[in-house]
Amino acid sequence: MRIDILTLFPNMFEGFLNESIIKRAILKESVIINIVDFRKYSHFSNNQVDDTPYGGGGGMVLRIEPIYDALMDIKKDDPEAKVILMTPDGIPYKQEMAVKLKDEKHLVFICGHYEGFDERIRTLCDMEISIGDYVLTGGELPAMVVSDSIIRLIEGVITDSSLVSESFNDKLLDYPTYTKPQEFMGMKVPDVLLSGDHAKIAAWREEERIKKTRERRPDLM
Ligand code: ADE
Repeated sequence: MRIDILTLFPNMFEGFLNESIIKRAILKESVIINIVDFRKYSHFSNNQVDDTPYGGGGGMVLRIEPIYDALMDIKKDDPEAKVILMTPDGIPYKQEMAVKLKDEKHLVFICGHYEGFDERIRTLCDMEISIGDYVLTGGELPAMVVSDSIIRLIEGVITDSSLVSESFNDKLLDYPTYTKPQEFMGMKVPDVLLSGDHAKIAAWREEERIKKTRERRPDLM
């Protein structure tokens, strides 16, 4: 998979690209991630990419031309690339969307900043995603959240067994896990996990998933 991320703040992605599982996925060539600073597509000598809103009101609005030009540069090599706008008024992001998007060959994320973006930018996009009902200072963190959730699902990036029973698969949250020590400050590891009876352990885990989901997220059931 290839992912292009259009942003005005490329440095925000340094930690994301250079640590842990995402770094490994890049080194293994499971994913290519290209950060595009779309300020370089500005039509102005001062590199301006925003302007005041028509009709008045506060704040600055992202202009369409630099986004359009950056996208055309990408699309001339791959017209099929799927373009996703990060915006709080997009479709609420869910695990099932990550599962679908992991099969795409080429994704392009557009990160807005400032007060907003010219409405016509929406016409350049195939999809709009919100990562939750709150407003962030820009689309960079949302683009990292969504890319991370997709990349970890690409075959070979993490072990398949880690993916089998994790939260949101089958609309259930994950079961509780424990490691050593067997007892910490009076809190004991449940006996069943020490029993060595794999059928019993599997049944207990399934029950715990249902119990936890009913308590915490009845809306998922
Ligand atoms: N940009 C600002 N806030 C956002 C959100 N909640 N989701 C996606 N993009 C955003």
